[in-house]
Amino acid sequence: MNVLIDTIDPDDLGELADFHDAGHGTADDFLADMLNGLRQAQKEISCKYFYDKRGSALFDEICDLEEYYPTRTELSILATRAPEIASLAGPAAHLVEFGSGSSSKVRLLLNAMEAPSSYVAVDISRDHLIASTRDLASEYLDIDVVPVCADYTREFELPTGLQGKNVTGFFPGSTIGNFAPEQAATFLGRWAKVLGSGAGLVIGVDLKKPRALLEAAYNDARGVTAEFNENLLVRANTELNADFDLSAFAHDARWNEAAGRIEMHLVSQRDQTVNIADQAFNFQADETIHTENSHKYGLAEFTDMAGRAGWDAPATWTDPNNLFSVHFLRAR
Ligand code: AVJ
Repeated sequence: MNVLIDTIDPDDLGELADFHDAGHGTADDFLADMLNGLRQAQKEISCKYFYDKRGSALFDEICDLEEYYPTRTELSILATRAPEIASLAGPAAHLVEFGSGSSSKVRLLLNAMEAPSSYVAVDISRDHLIASTRDLASEYLDIDVVPVCADYTREFELPTGLQGKNVTGFFPGSTIGNFAPEQAATFLGRWAKVLGSGAGLVIGVDLKKPRALLEAAYNDARGVTAEFNENLLVRANTELNADFDLSAFAHDARWNEAAGRIEMHLVSQRDQTVNIADQAFNFQADETIHTENSHKYGLAEFTDMAGRAGWDAPATWTDPNNLFSVHFLRAR
């Protein structure tokens, strides 16, 4: 693991204890993934590329939308259950968040936990990571705040010093839904090993519900989700010199009942050709680029999967309307 502390102005680091960079998420990856994705029969772009500075800001806006129930529902569950979570996590715990984003939900846990030792924030979006952890570090002077710039979908190391400690992972937001169930099980299995036997994992999981509610949450009236989706094309144009005509691609989100997931697509509005790095990609009218899957689970469906990946489920909580669930898992 590279430690980037030498290349960052120490004044910019504020209270940050350290900065770890796993070298993930470079422009080369974006280009290679983009070209490869657009060569597939069903064209696709990985949803991990949503989260540049603009995309992260748009996502924060999505979280405040009337139609987008997951964020506020999960927050209400976390707020209500924080004392139980704190007691399951135990004293002097090290909290490791996968995909820390704005590091806002974690405050609910840190405030409830008994003298937490450290907060390790893992995120691929470097600027957002540094800004968010700097803010958090200035508020929580007794906690070591450690930003780790990494793609948590790949193998990465946690900062040394966590081995054998009381560790709890945090993976809120139902981000686990971005992965196909087999892949989700693989990550859960890997994290059981990374965090260690006995470690906790607080994980938010969105629940299956009627199509109308799901589709409204991903096709909001103000078009923020559409802009979030189209930001992928903006990024390709500015970072990869692509020539996507933004007005020729429309946002769409559909509930795929058989696969148990919301799918986001960018739909070509006409026959067209797009150029990226000297390569031409043809689109027929109505052909789509598949940009995201958001899998929804039943409660037992999820805990069974976690069980196969090495986790017991000592606690599962939902909101009164059964929209969303939060689980406390324990690595065997
Ligand atoms: C961050 C992956 C949980 O799937 O609901 C929100 C991303 N995409 N609106 C989700 C998202 C469109 C979100 N996750």
